[in-house]
Amino acid sequence: MYSYYFLTLALLHSCSAYAQSVSSPGECRLVFNSDEVLVICDSVNFKTLPSKGFPENTTDLTVYLSNLSSIASDDLKILSHLSRLSLTRNQLHTLPADLLLGLSNLYVLDLTGNKLTSLPSRVFHHSPLVELTLSDNLLSEIDADCLPVNSSLQRLDLSSNKFTQLPVPFLRRLTNLESLDFKNNQLEELTPGALTSLPKLEALYLENNRLKSLDASAFVGNPNLRQMFLSGNHLESLPAGLFLKQDELVFLDLRSNYLQNLTPGVLDGRSYAVLSGNPWHCNASLAYVWHWLCMNEKRIFHDDKITCQTPEHMKGKNITEIAAAELGIKD
Ligand SMILES: *[C@@H]1O[C@H](CO)[C@@H](O)[C@H](O)[C@H]1NC(C)=O
Ligand SMILES: *[C@@H]1O[C@H](CO)[C@@H](O)[C@H](O)[C@H]1NC(C)=O
Ligand SMILES: *[C@@H]1O[C@H](CO)[C@@H](O)[C@H](O)[C@H]1NC(C)=O
Ligand SMILES: *[C@@H]1O[C@H](CO)[C@@H](O)[C@H](O)[C@H]1NC(C)=O
Ligand SMILES: *[C@@H]1O[C@H](CO)[C@@H](O)[C@H](O)[C@H]1NC(C)=O
Repeated sequence: MYSYYFLTLALLHSCSAYAQSVSSPGECRLVFNSDEVLVICDSVNFKTLPSKGFPENTTDLTVYLSNLSSIASDDLKILSHLSRLSLTRNQLHTLPADLLLGLSNLYVLDLTGNKLTSLPSRVFHHSPLVELTLSDNLLSEIDADCLPVNSSLQRLDLSSNKFTQLPVPFLRRLTNLESLDFKNNQLEELTPGALTSLPKLEALYLENNRLKSLDASAFVGNPNLRQMFLSGNHLESLPAGLFLKQDELVFLDLRSNYLQNLTPGVLDGRSYAVLSGNPWHCNASLAYVWHWLCMNEKRIFHDDKITCQTPEHMKGKNITEIAAAELGIKD
């Protein structure tokens, strides 16, 4: 009954062979490596997942651009060796509770580009997930119980959804999280305390939201932050002491906000900062930013245009090319 589509069998022995084995549209491809069995289906017209047609010891299953509109927990249960599952660019509207029941080896799940509006409780229980990608769906909230307490999750991608607030009770369970991606949502603020239970967080992606301000204590629970992406928001200023605890924060992206100045301290210890696309106000109060830019000229990205917006006579000037006297400060 599963003979409508074609399983191409490719016996490949080296690891590098995998990278080259792109499946052709309309069929599934099988790759046997020494310790993994990959099934890759590209643009196959599936309504449901024909798991019985796949090898029982499949470790990696990828089904993309296949218009898959529903999935049952029974469809996956028989594939108990799965360690990576990717169902990207399909038409999934809902997922069953206990989706991952029996998948005790699954550590990567990617559901990018579906139509998910909500998730049932316990949906990501049962598997030792390390990486979960739900990018490009229609989610605006996530129930706390979708993942177990003290989840092993290290990377979570919720970018390009409809969040207006961070799902605080859900995030509290992710004590092992290292990377959190919330870019391209509609966040207007970071709920106080939202990120405090993420002590291992190293990368935070918040670009292209609507953040107007940040609380001075927003990141107190994240001493290991190394990269912070805040570009494309509506930030007008940053509070003093915002990154006081972030000794490891080397990369700070503040591009395309409404910043006219920065509170002294914000750039201390940063190796790289992206500051272009802000309406900098160039008078003596900009001394801190001016000094940092002059000291770190080599750390500014090539095309990064950091120019004055106001006052009128300074408009368009490259900040690093302004003389101290012109800014009204001593060198
Ligand atoms: C998976 O099953 C096939 C067919 O039974 C077998 O040839 C292969 O060695 C198995 N591969 C792994 C990684 O277990
Ligand atoms: C998925 O649906 C779209 C729109 O109906 C269609 O154009 C496309 O061919 C379908 N893809 C497959 C793999 O059947
Ligand atoms: C979660 O981890 C914390 C801190 O390690 C521990 O105190 C708590 O008992 C754990 N909770 C569960 C349900 O395992
Ligand atoms: C620089 O301009 C800002 C905004 O107009 C003003 O608040 C500030 O006092 C000015 N700084 C100095 C040193 O004049
Ligand atoms: C701004 O000035 C610096 C230092 O002279 C230079 O390296 C950089 O290319 C200039 N940027 C622009 C956009 O002109």
